[in-house]
Amino acid sequence: MKKSLMIGLALLSSQAMAAGDIENGQKIAYTCTGCHGIPFYKNPYPNYHVPRLGGQNEAYLVSALKAYRSGDRKHSTMQAQAGSLTDQDIADIAAYFASLNQGAKK
Ligand code: HEC
Repeated sequence: MKKSLMIGLALLSSQAMAAGDIENGQKIAYTCTGCHGIPFYKNPYPNYHVPRLGGQNEAYLVSALKAYRSGDRKHSTMQAQAGSLTDQDIADIAAYFASLNQGAKK
C-alpha cells in the first residue's frame, strides 16, 4: 500500500514538472510582459498591438513558442525571445499565461 502511494506521488510530481511550473513561468515571463502587456494586452508605449497571451490555450502557447524557436514561425522579435528557452521554460511560461484568466469574467 505505502509503496504504491509513493510511486503514485512520484508520478504525479513528475507530471507536474512536464506540465509546467506556473510560479517559475511567472519569473521567466517577466520580460515577456513588457510587450505582451498584461493586463491590457497592449504595449503601452509605443502603442502597438501584440497578441494576448493571458488565458491563451496552454498547448497553443507551447507550439507557438517552439515554432518561433525552430524558425518555423517567422518573426524576428519573437524568434529572438524564444531562441534561448528550454522545453521546460516553454512549458512553465505556457502554464503561467494559460492560468491567468481562470475565473475571470468575460
Ligand atoms: C519586443 C516585444 C516582445 C517581447 C519582449 C515578447 N514578445 Fe511575444 N510577440 C510579440 C509580437 C509583436 C508578436 C506577434 C508576432 C507574430 O505576428 O507572429 C508576439 C507573439 C507571441 C506569441 C504568439 C501568440 C499568438 O497568438 O500566436 C507568443 C506565444 C509569444 N509572443 C510569447 C512570448 C513570450 C513567452 C515572451 C517572453 C519570453 C515574449 N513573447 C516576449 C512581441 C514580443
